[in-house]
Amino acid sequence: MNVKEFIEFLNRWLGKFHPEEGLLYGDEKQIIKGITVCWMVTKNVIEFSVKKGNNLIISHEDLFFPPDYAFSAKRKGVVSRERTSLLKKHKISVIRIHYLADRYCVLDDFAIALSLGNPVIKRGFYRVYEIKEISLQKFASDVKKYLNLEKVRITGSPKWKVKRIGSLWGGLGLSINAVFIDEILRYNVDTVIAGEVDEYTMRAMKDMDVGIVEVGHEISEETGLKHLARDLREKIKTIPVSYCPNGIPYTAF
Ligand SMILES: [Fe+2]
Ligand SMILES: [Fe+2]
Repeated sequence: MNVKEFIEFLNRWLGKFHPEEGLLYGDEKQIIKGITVCWMVTKNVIEFSVKKGNNLIISHEDLFFPPDYAFSAKRKGVVSRERTSLLKKHKISVIRIHYLADRYCVLDDFAIALSLGNPVIKRGFYRVYEIKEISLQKFASDVKKYLNLEKVRITGSPKWKVKRIGSLWGGLGLSINAVFIDEILRYNVDTVIAGEVDEYTMRAMKDMDVGIVEVGHEISEETGLKHLARDLREKIKTIPVSYCPNGIPYTAF
């Protein structure tokens, strides 16, 4: 199967690509030897793919930095050039599956990983969950346990109550997505569980007495991306599919 045929298969399976999705780098005629599924095409993912002999990477996030939303000449960025020169050297193509993956499983798998149960609000990409009331501190330690994390970042007092939780999975907690955050606040949540937040969001939530538990952007999407990799492996039995984590990019002192 070549890259073009694979894209046709993806569109039959998951739906039509949104503008940010599709072939970001490489050659449509390339015959696929193996596939790496990942959150972002960082150097460790490229090295992993070379070792495995995988010449196609499926990435959830943008390959380029500056990314799609920040810079129209993104392919000329210093980091973009560094990454694409490696892809060129090793003849690796990259397909981005973003919106379609979130819709397929990434959004709901985050709540499944956290054992939040069925949402009480499920509207478009908005999800609100209700649990038996606990403290923010207890909720944060449950989250750590479920996701097998040493640390999470919380905003708000550890004593704040947690009962009605909005999901800001992935990057939805970043102020660039403030319209989404504003809407989730209209569902009277007392807490949000987030992939990644910035200070604009932290301070906004604090002013509303809404607690935040932030687990990491990749972590919040990883359960779903592994799910996608598993389903892909089952569907195309002839091509090997592996998942490669990016890993936590910082050390907390
Ligand atoms: Fe996502
Ligand atoms: Fe994301």
